[in-house]
Amino acid sequence: MDRKRILTGDRPTGKLHLGHYVGSLQNRVRLQDQYECFFILADLHTLTTKPEKSAIEEVTSNVREMVLDYLACGIDPEKSVIYLQSAIPEIYEMNLIFEMMVSVPRLQRIPSLKDMAKSANLNEMPFGLLGYPVLQAADILMPRAHLVPVGKDNESHVELTREIARRFNYLYGEVFPVPDVLVGDFGSLVGTDGNAKMSKSLNNAIYIADDAKTVQKKVMSMYTDPNRIRADIPGTVEGNPVFIYHDAFNPDVDEIDDLKDRYRAGKVGDVEVKSKLAAALNNFLDPIRERRERFFAESGLVDEIIYEGTLRMRQEARETVTEMKKAMGLSGIWNKISRKAEKARKSRERDNA
Ligand code: TRP
Repeated sequence: MDRKRILTGDRPTGKLHLGHYVGSLQNRVRLQDQYECFFILADLHTLTTKPEKSAIEEVTSNVREMVLDYLACGIDPEKSVIYLQSAIPEIYEMNLIFEMMVSVPRLQRIPSLKDMAKSANLNEMPFGLLGYPVLQAADILMPRAHLVPVGKDNESHVELTREIARRFNYLYGEVFPVPDVLVGDFGSLVGTDGNAKMSKSLNNAIYIADDAKTVQKKVMSMYTDPNRIRADIPGTVEGNPVFIYHDAFNPDVDEIDDLKDRYRAGKVGDVEVKSKLAAALNNFLDPIRERRERFFAESGLVDEIIYEGTLRMRQEARETVTEMKKAMGLSGIWNKISRKAEKARKSRERDNA
């Protein structure tokens, strides 16, 4: 029996952070033996907010950093297909077809798109950004994935993918599975500043590749209960970023419980709570950093992984798009025209001879 498939991926905006890890990377690593995995380096999606040439010039190095982060976190390149979106022409093709399966008001109701426009300082919605989740549907349905592990902010995009798959299948016959979404345990991870979402643009992220000193510094200046101006004032644990990170990354549950009890009672200083968090984070990141260094040292390895994955995906994509166009009767148009044209040309050549 063929294994079911996972597709997910990231925009190559730079190094990945802990939000990526708990949102989706962790699930990918956990599920890679159970599923056949496809990971897309979604550089076309970065164009939706940053079409400038200068931004495109940064993609190559961003993609390399991102794949290093994947490998460092435990994604096994022998088991997964890692590929570059912009090098798969069929994705552009499928995107256009899927644009016919969805209405503009449906897309306008997706909140993440407005957020992206806003944080990119765009005062009008670009056509392509409105189509962001349509392009994502093409990514997901290209390898005919069954499961999509993503962060909370992408849940609505997978919902749209499901609608597109159903609509396509209804119009043209069963071509695509309707994929399920898998959202990470911590939904979207808060930033170090207490902002709801860890993100590069908000400058509140701890990166997977941060060294121990940087992690220590970032943790010590983290936002915590703002009402607790002294260590002997009882503090709030719920929703407190420092404790959210403890829960997410510190495996020592007894230590966490003890810290929480003393925090609530006003019997522990911030410095102790944060120092223990920094230590836990660095413990968690140490083997990841080590693996990252090892992969980094093997010159060309990352590029080879992307290259092989992209060639493999191209083959897959050609098959899916051929089947898609056949189901629609779209390839039939050209087939009939070209067959007749070739016949006509041949018979004219015979007449002229
Ligand atoms: N939208 C994802 C992000 O926020 C990136 C992405 C592009 C993606 N295509 C995808 C995620 C397909 C899952 C499946 O960065």
